[in-house]
Amino acid sequence: METTFVMIKPDGVQRNLIAPILDRFLAKGFTLRGLKFMNVSKQLAETHYADLSSKPFFGGLVEYICSGPVVAIALEGKDVVAQARKIIGATNPLASDPGTIRGAYAIDIGRNVIHGSDSVENGQKELALWFSEGLVDNTPVLR
Ligand code: CMP
Repeated sequence: METTFVMIKPDGVQRNLIAPILDRFLAKGFTLRGLKFMNVSKQLAETHYADLSSKPFFGGLVEYICSGPVVAIALEGKDVVAQARKIIGATNPLASDPGTIRGAYAIDIGRNVIHGSDSVENGQKELALWFSEGLVDNTPVLR
């Protein structure tokens, strides 16, 4: 089964959007495989966004991701990488549909509330980076 990485960024946490954001993915039918409320080290932020290291906004992006706690999420389900990207919406809030998370909650590309892996391969890489100690197995237990 496919798995993806999603992160609620510091602005999403500070604006009390953890529950409504999680609800969108869980109500859609995806399964929570990992969930962490955590502070992000500079090293982790720089590694996560390494592909953007030449961009002029890289320093500000790293500073922002380290500015307060985030929620790191592992989600599992059919086509979850592409489906989560649809639910999240376009990176630039001006282009994101109002029915998406960014379309509903963000007005600034630099404060866009949430991140989601953009491919199955990157999802695997990002999950390994953020959940290096392993995912939680929440398979229902019969009593
Ligand atoms: P994310 O999906 O986390 O992936 C890369 C991030 O870089 C993106 O969301 C934005 O938060 C950020 N980003 C992209 N373009 C810009 C920009 N022009 N200015 C500031 N931040 C940007």
